[in-house]
Amino acid sequence: MRVQNKSIIVTGAGSGIGEGIARRLAAEGGRVLVNDINAQAGQRVATDIRAAGGEAVFFQADVTKSKDVEAMVQEAVQRFGRLDVVVNNAGWTHRNRPMLEVSEEDFDKVYAINVKSIYLSAIHAVPALRKAGVAVSSTSPPRQGCGRAPG
Ligand SMILES: NC(=O)c1ccc[n+]([C@@H]2O[C@H](COP(=O)([O-])OP(=O)(O)OC[C@H]3O[C@@H](n4cnc5c(N)ncnc54)[C@H](O)[C@@H]3O)[C@@H](O)[C@H]2O)c1
Repeated sequence: MRVQNKSIIVTGAGSGIGEGIARRLAAEGGRVLVNDINAQAGQRVATDIRAAGGEAVFFQADVTKSKDVEAMVQEAVQRFGRLDVVVNNAGWTHRNRPMLEVSEEDFDKVYAINVKSIYLSAIHAVPALRKAGVAVSSTSPPRQGCGRAPG
């Protein structure tokens, strides 16, 4: 039971792969914060997990918004006392089509949900992960990046 009692955020857990990840981690004893931008979908997953005897709480947040991600991390720490794992699963893409038909708006949305969200997650979650003793590594030298804390 490697995730027993671990405090875990799963983003985009209201459907698809994220839902499966959240359900499995909760079934293995994890304490799961089910995130989604879609409240109905996320609530359903968290309720189902609790009904099956697992521990889960839903938190609505848009992973492209810094304030939302910050609040999501705070919620996990408050609810579960710490943060051990973040699964950056939330993602989106436009329907497959020739590149010249992809609107700038859609491109920006793909970039924000699939890429910027990872940056925001790191900014807000890494301090909490470090407090929990999780080793967070980076390709940058420790003093500049997410690597080992100085000293
Ligand atoms: N399904 C595949 O074949 C496949 C293949 C490779 C990678 N992926 C990646 O896996 C991840 C999940 O894919 P899926 O097929 O389960 O997708 P999905 O659309 O079923 O689930 C994505 C979830 O993310 C949520 N979401 C979207 N924008 C959000 C936001 N801004 N903030 C919070 N939540 C948001 C959606 O509401 C949805 O519940 C994505 O990152 C996707 O790119 C999927």
